[in-house]
Amino acid sequence: MSINIAVLPGDGIGPEIVREALKVLDVLNREYGLNAEWEEAAIGGVGYEESGDPYPEVTRKLSREADAVLLGAVGGPKWESLDKPLRPEAGLLGIRADLGLFANYRPARVYRQLLDASTLKPEVIDGVDLMVIRELVSGVYFGQPRGIVEEGGQRKGLNTMSYTEAEVERIARTAFETARLRTGRVCSVDKANVLDVSEFWREIICRVHGDEFSDVELSHMYVDNAAMQLIRNPKQFDVIVTSNLFGDILSDEASMLTGSIGMLPSASIGERHAMYEPIHGSAPDISGQNKANPLATVLSVSMMLKYTLNQSDLADKVDAAVEAVLDDGLRTPDLAGGEQLVSCSGMGDAVCAKLERMGAEQV
Ligand code: NAD
Ligand code: IPM
Ligand code: MN
Repeated sequence: MSINIAVLPGDGIGPEIVREALKVLDVLNREYGLNAEWEEAAIGGVGYEESGDPYPEVTRKLSREADAVLLGAVGGPKWESLDKPLRPEAGLLGIRADLGLFANYRPARVYRQLLDASTLKPEVIDGVDLMVIRELVSGVYFGQPRGIVEEGGQRKGLNTMSYTEAEVERIARTAFETARLRTGRVCSVDKANVLDVSEFWREIICRVHGDEFSDVELSHMYVDNAAMQLIRNPKQFDVIVTSNLFGDILSDEASMLTGSIGMLPSASIGERHAMYEPIHGSAPDISGQNKANPLATVLSVSMMLKYTLNQSDLADKVDAAVEAVLDDGLRTPDLAGGEQLVSCSGMGDAVCAKLERMGAEQV
């Protein structure tokens, strides 16, 4: 039986990086017997241009029926002044909510080959291997009331940060279960010293831990301290579980441990659906120039193979191919430091060549 993937390239560098990820899937089909098929659809700014909707109905239908979704990135200056529901970002939040993708896994792993690419000292980052688990369909991103309103002759802007008990319970379970497969440590990041929503979050995390996961080591950290500790001593972390907004910020921060935001993949998982996307955006400053780093997207394919398609062996091959091109010194400009500079497509081709060679050696 074939696997059906909904491919949503999106805006800016989205189509460039997704093209390279699809080349990798092509090699896996050809050389490794993966039976993946895909269909492309519009999301974000291109969705708005095509149909007036950043999450068009055809895209919704395709994504709901697919075994998995692969997304590039959305957004760009062209659409910034549209009404909020028409903006590209609304399309991304829309698909996450529509598919119920509540758990966003954002692994930050430092590759030895890239120790020099980070702005941090090698001894601080060598060996970092952490997982940010970000709640993705609630919190201040979705809370009501929200808006820009007039009150007593004054305009004001507001959002609401809220979590229900069930929402915290399910992300807590995700984090503890993930930790059991790693080194068994969870750090829950909140702002419980100030925010009621965080106090509640902490209470539920503690209850789920005590009732179901007392074998896992649990700690708590305020988000301001966590932002500092990530830079001071990132190796203290294994699994970080946190709310939507804090996870957005901390995962971008964690990406710089690895040398570039162009290295960080993600998996967004719900009860019935799963979507895979790099954590970075559409990078309008470099789009159309064939110089984006496609590895975050290639590694997102690896996460798809492992988490949804039950093809851990193939995921390992993709990871090994990425390591091999880094061993060869190939670097897109975001990683550059004197080694061999390659383009976005050059990097994709190199990963494919490694995979092809590994496939041939196997037979
Ligand atoms: P960004 O992540 O797009 O870019 C930040 C910086 O990182 C830029 O200098 C960019 O060139 C660089 N960068 C990002 N990805 C890279 C890659 N693969 N290779 C090399 N360099 C890379 O964040 P931003 O500039 O704040 O946002 C730009 C647009 O993207 C906005 O419209 C924003 O809303 C959107 N956005 C979308 C997503 C998403 O689709 N998941 C995520 C973040 C931002
Ligand atoms: C991300 C992005 C999105 C978010 C934006 C584009 C809506 O920053 O995927 O990290 O804030 O979740
Ligand atoms: Mn983000």
